[in-house]
Amino acid sequence: MAFTKVCSLDDLWEGDMEMRPVGKVPVLLVYPEGGEIHAFQGICPHQQVPLWDGKFEGTTLTCKAHEWTFDGNTGEGINPGGCTLAEYKVKIEGEDVYVDVEGVTPTFAAATGEAITTDK
Ligand code: FES
Repeated sequence: MAFTKVCSLDDLWEGDMEMRPVGKVPVLLVYPEGGEIHAFQGICPHQQVPLWDGKFEGTTLTCKAHEWTFDGNTGEGINPGGCTLAEYKVKIEGEDVYVDVEGVTPTFAAATGEAITTDK
């Protein structure tokens, strides 16, 4: 698959997040304050809850289910650590935002077998 247009820059303001499907893949677009637009897997790696139902504040994404938090600039787990959101390629052309999901597999905690610890 190639890059697919998912929205225009007017649809995603700095500090916001939006879910935009690419085919059957739910893609979470985030625009961290002071950063650039990123596209991450739309489903939480913990227990597969939609991340777009959570909160995005500043640069931090919080899942609504058990409040795992992720860095919106990198996708890295803040709490717990050791769990990073899969990231898709983003391309901006003019006012349009494109995402390429090819070759990227979402991360799921149960599938990785990694030891994930939480401060909670
Ligand atoms: S499903 Fe997201 S934190 Fe548990």
